[in-house]
Order: sequence, then C-alpha cells, then structure tokens
Amino acid sequence: MSLFEDYILSQKAYFESKWFEILRIPSISAIEEFQPHIRHAANWFRDHFQGIGLCSELIETTGYPLVYAETPAVAGSPVVLVYGHYDVQPPDPLELWKSPPFEPTIRDGNVYARGATDDKGQFLTHVFAVESLLKSGETLPFQIKFIVEGEEEYGGKAIDHFLHSDEGQKKLACDCVLVSDTSMFGPGQPTITYGLRGIVAFELFLTGPNRDLHSGTFGGSVFNPAIALTQILSQFIDEKGIVQIPQFYDDVIPLTERERTQFAALPFDDAAFFEKIGLTQGFGEIGFSTNERRWARPTFDINGLTAGYQGEGSKTIIPSKASAKWTCRLVPNQDPQKIADSVREFVAMRIPSGVTWELVVQHGAPGMRLDLDASEFVNPMATVLEKTFARPTVFTREGGSIPIVAEFQRVLNADVLLVGWGQDDDALHSPNEKFALQSFHAGILASARFFNELAQQQKKQ
Ligand code: BES
Ligand code: MN
Ligand code: MN
Repeated sequence: MSLFEDYILSQKAYFESKWFEILRIPSISAIEEFQPHIRHAANWFRDHFQGIGLCSELIETTGYPLVYAETPAVAGSPVVLVYGHYDVQPPDPLELWKSPPFEPTIRDGNVYARGATDDKGQFLTHVFAVESLLKSGETLPFQIKFIVEGEEEYGGKAIDHFLHSDEGQKKLACDCVLVSDTSMFGPGQPTITYGLRGIVAFELFLTGPNRDLHSGTFGGSVFNPAIALTQILSQFIDEKGIVQIPQFYDDVIPLTERERTQFAALPFDDAAFFEKIGLTQGFGEIGFSTNERRWARPTFDINGLTAGYQGEGSKTIIPSKASAKWTCRLVPNQDPQKIADSVREFVAMRIPSGVTWELVVQHGAPGMRLDLDASEFVNPMATVLEKTFARPTVFTREGGSIPIVAEFQRVLNADVLLVGWGQDDDALHSPNEKFALQSFHAGILASARFFNELAQQQKKQ
C-alpha cells in the first residue's frame, strides 16, 4: 500500500461528512426559486477546492455559475480535466421518499439523497482522490483541472458558451476529460462507458376555443385540442417501436457485428432487468436486444401530458388547451437540429384546422462515442479499475445524455473517459435516489490510483 492509499482508507468518515454537506444544499436547477441554493452549492465547491490548495474561482455566465479549479500546470505533460455537475433534479413526488431528499440518510450501506449519485457523490470521488494525493505528499507531474456546471439537469447552455469563448478554450484545454456520471454494468463490475445518446426535447402547446366549454353545449361541433394532441402524438411511433418521423433514421450509424457480439456477451438477464422495474417484459424497436435499444438506437418518448380537468370526480368540458413534453434520444451522428426540423414539419402537417399551435424546442445535444482503440487513457484506467474491483473492466455504451461531452471531444480534441461508479437501480431522477458507500469509497481509491498511474508514466519519461 502506498501512502495515499492508506490515507484514503483512513479518511472515510471525513469524505462522507463533506459529501453530506453538499447533499444538504438543494441545488435544483429546473426551479427558479432555488437559485440561491445553486449559488450556495457553487460556492461550496469553490471553497472546498481552495481549502485543499487548488486555484479555484466561480465563472459567471448568463445562467448559473461554473466552478473551475486547477493544480499547477506542468509544461510538456498531459492535462486531465474532470467534469461534473452540482445541480440536481427536482425531488418530487416528495411523499414517496422514505427520508427527506436533502437530508442524506444511510440505510443498508447506501446513502439516500437527491444528488447522492447524480452527480455530487460521483464527482466528489475525484476531488477527494486529488485531495488525498496532495495531502499524502505526492507530487503531480501533470495538470488536473476541474469544471463543475450547474445547468446539466435542464440542458442549459452556459458551459457550452464558455467552452466556445477564448477564456474557456484556454481554461478547459486538455488531453482527457474524466467524467463519473454514468453507471457500472452491475455491482462491483468496473465499467468504461464509451458511448452516450444525445437528446432533443420538445414542448407542444395546442389551443382550441378561448375558454373551457360545456361539452354538452359545444361537443361535436368544435375540434377538441386534447383529441388533436393525442392524435398527433399517437402517430410518432408504430406498434413495432419504429419512429415515424421522416428521415429520423437517415444518419444513424448501424451497430457493427463486432459491437452486437460484444453487447450480447455481457452478462444480462432480460427477465430480471424488467422485474426490477415492475414489468414482465420490455418493448422496443423490433429486431434489437434490450441493450441495443437502450444504448445504441434512437427513440421517441412522451415525458408529460396535460389537458383538461384532472381533479376529483368528473367535469364535462372541452378544454381550451392541451400540451405535451416529449424527447427523442439520439445516437452519435444524428444532428439534433435536423431532427428538430423534421419533427416541426411532422407536427405542422397534422394540426387540424380550428386548433392553433406552438412548438418549442427546449434543448438539444448530440450523442458521443469514444474510439477505444485510439485513446491512450483507456488502458491505464482499465488497469486501475481491475486492480480496485478485482475484476476485468467491461466496455459498454449507455442510453442517458451528458449534453456537453460530445462538444468537449470536438472542441478540445480530447478523449472523454466515462467511468461511472453508480448502478442502474440508483434511482437517479426518481424518489429515493441512492449511492452505495462502498462504490463511493472504491471510486475515490480507483481515481487516485488512475492519477498516480499517470504520474508514474510521466516520471518514467
Ligand atoms: N447522469 C445523467 C446522464 C446519464 C444517466 C448517463 C444514466 C448514463 C446513464 C445526467 O445527469 C442526466 O440526467 N442527463 C439528462 C440530460 C438532459 C436533461 C439534457 C438526461 O439524460 O436526461
Ligand atoms: Mn448526471
Ligand atoms: Mn441527471
């Protein structure tokens, strides 16, 4: 055991107490009134970085602040940028939480809180790793930078704008972007995620009559916007799970046979997967396995529907308004803007007369994929993961989106290494979000070993 490894093992209580501090701050980016907490969380990170001797600052944006920190630059050596987000999803429905979302609570070896895994706990593993290396006297012969954003969970553009500014290009320049905001392929199974899906999000507003109408007096003589909405939405996807938007699949790169074989070789039990979420079977595009559908095929999904009376009992009306939110998950090479244009045309052609409409494209980001064979950071990471978890690393793709990562690859010309410590059943975005204490501590150790491995490589040169 090296000094830094002993140090990490001795500091578990301290790491947990700092983690709990940030979990108590309800930094919900989607809801305006939580803005003071957003700033509080950003300040917390800056203060923590400064406290461990890093140069750190808040970067103001037109939206929520970014937090930047760095160790000293080392000429001629690689730079690793660690990315994370300090914002969280809204916690509702509150009544389904067993303990309050912003009071971290330990049960059966897990910490329950909003943001426990997504992404405060996961991101902090790298902060504590660097902190431990420095406090146990290691020198870092290469530079580590941190960038933490506060708009990831609502698709905000602040970090994207910063990345395209002169200051951003300088501060974020790096060779490798390290991100822990994904999952492991099962408990204790070290995983490198080499692909994520992109996303494009829509909201459609339909208006019929200028007020809710008596459905007896007017029913049968006007177009009901709720019916218009359901008729339009029902045409987006067919019974075989194939999305009906014209040109939707045009730019999709088909899965290679090699990739399909690799996915199929991963230990995965369909029945158990669906049972965990209360289903007896899945549904999706015909001709693809569950993991192919989740990781490497584009989708259409309705996220929310609103129209008419939803209170107790019955109310006989024709609603004045109806609206829906939906998202398409995209795969690498699909362009969110192009998909948004096709969707607009698809909707426009289906609006009945007597109904007015507004379609808002809320946000969009492309998917990403790392060329595993071309990255010099993959092997050192796979090696330290294997050492830490005592099992060979597997390589997967995932279906979620981290909007900025594809742009990091493109603009910074850096390899994005997605190494998650979470589990698929950590309930991110759901009530009772959790993160296993064991994964948290293993993540700190693995991260420190990764940085140490890069340090050894540098010292040899
Ligand atoms: N950490 C997730 C992304 C994720 C989830 C990756 C599961 C892999 C597996 C991230 O915080 C997230 O929730 N992203 C949003 C982005 C959206 C709001 C623009 C998503 O995927 O819905
Ligand atoms: Mn996240
Ligand atoms: Mn999230």
